[in-house]
Amino acid sequence: MPHSFRERIHSGEKLIAPMVCLDSPEVVEILCAAGYDWLFLEAEHAPQSPQSLQRLVMAARDVPCAVRVPDHGKLTPWRFIRIAGDSRAILGQRLAAMLIERGAETSEAALRKERERFTRSPLVIVVVACLTAGHKVPESEQRLSAGLAAYNLLLGAQALGFGGQWLTGWPAYDLEVAALLGLDSHECVVSFIYLGSPREQLPDRPRPSAAARLRDIAL
Ligand SMILES: Cc1cc2nc3c(=O)[nH]c(=O)nc-3n(C[C@H](O)[C@H](O)[C@H](O)COP(=O)(O)O)c2cc1C
Repeated sequence: MPHSFRERIHSGEKLIAPMVCLDSPEVVEILCAAGYDWLFLEAEHAPQSPQSLQRLVMAARDVPCAVRVPDHGKLTPWRFIRIAGDSRAILGQRLAAMLIERGAETSEAALRKERERFTRSPLVIVVVACLTAGHKVPESEQRLSAGLAAYNLLLGAQALGFGGQWLTGWPAYDLEVAALLGLDSHECVVSFIYLGSPREQLPDRPRPSAAARLRDIAL
C-alpha cells in the first residue's frame, strides 16, 4: 500500500471510495483506473467467496480496500473507545491504584508495568461488545461480530502500514476496569488494539499450513 495513503489520512483529507458488490476483477480495475482513493469491497451481502475477494484485492493492486464485518441481525454489537495522549498514562495509574487498593499487587516492577500498560503505543482502541440479551441472535454470535470488528481494525491498520496488536490481560475481564471505561452492564471488552508505527521488523514465527488445518467432511 502506498505510504501516501497513510499520509493523506493523517492530514485529514477526505478520501472517496465506491462500494463494490460485483465479483468482477475487471470492474475493480476500471474503478481503480477511474482514480478512487480506496475501495469498499462488499463481502457481507454480496456472494463473494474468499477466493473471489482475493481476486478483487489483487485486481485493486495499490488501491487500498476495506471489507465490512458480518453482523447477524444487524445489531451493530460493538463500539470503540479511543485511549490516546495523556489518557494512556492516567488510565494506567488508575489500574495500578486499583491493584494497590485490593492488596493484589505490591511489587514496584508490577505496578510500573500497569502504569505504563497503555503507553506502549501511541494509540489504544478498546473494542467493546454491546450484547443484547435474550435476542434470537445468540450472544456468542454478537461477541464474534465484535471480534471481527476488532480484527478488521487490526487488519486495516496493518494494511495501511501501521503496527498493531490485539491484547487483553486482566483489565479486559475486570468489572471495576469496565466501569472505569464507562461500559454498561451489557457490555464487555473484546480487545485492546494497540496501534503505532513499527520501529523494527520483527522476525516471523512458524505458521500453520492451511492445508494441515483442513479436512473434508467425513460422512
Ligand atoms: C482474544 C485474544 C486475546 C489476546 N490477548 C493477548 C494478550 O493479552 N497478550 C498477548 O501477548 N497476546 C495476546 N493475544 C495474541 C496476540 O494478539 C497475537 O495474536 C500473538 O501475539 C501472535 O501474533 P502473531 O500471529 O503476529 O505472531 C490475544 C489474541 C486474541 C485473539
